[in-house]
Amino acid sequence: MSVHPSMHIIEDIQEVLISEEQIGSKVAELGAQISKEYEGKDLLLVCILKGALVFMSDLMRCISIPVSIDTMAVTSYGASTVSSGVVKIIKDLDVPIEGRHVLIVEDIVDTGLTLSYLVSTLKNRKPASVKVCTLLDKPDRRQASIVPDYNGFVIPDKFVVGYGLDYMEKYRNLPFVGVPKDYVWNEEH
Ligand code: IMP
Ligand code: MG
Repeated sequence: MSVHPSMHIIEDIQEVLISEEQIGSKVAELGAQISKEYEGKDLLLVCILKGALVFMSDLMRCISIPVSIDTMAVTSYGASTVSSGVVKIIKDLDVPIEGRHVLIVEDIVDTGLTLSYLVSTLKNRKPASVKVCTLLDKPDRRQASIVPDYNGFVIPDKFVVGYGLDYMEKYRNLPFVGVPKDYVWNEEH
């Protein structure tokens, strides 16, 4: 079945799981907590592209202590629907992290394979610490023992889009997190 693309992406959403307002207040809370816990420390925020782009840009503006930022882009090897656990770095950090406090900012932890690879890779570079801040945690599908140090919302095992998260590169620009309508999975892209 193929469906004509919608004129407006919001028409493809079945349910808003987390509203713009809920995200806003949670991000402010996380920013305040991070500001307190990293006070006096050399903090580097590492945004994992592209999914964490929106979260990172809001979160960093809710942090009141000095921070530096950097970005990394990764991809999973193998079939797109099954996480193989083998992660390829497409874009590495621009700066060395030895002796620094690193906070990885990621959109969602699902199987945990991506983050467990990233944490161990960055730990090899001898930083002072490596912690993880995720917007969403989907614990039902966990394969690697990753527990985010900071997390916005625990969600059920549903595929969600918006606020940076995509399905086939679409829907990242929705201001909330929602569940797409069923026909979206059958659309031609
Ligand atoms: P993990 O390695 O299985 O934890 O996968 C994490 C990555 O899978 C995230 O960075 C997302 O890009 C993607 N992902 C997992 N669940 C979802 C979802 O519900 N919506 C959009 N992307 C997802
Ligand atoms: Mg993605």
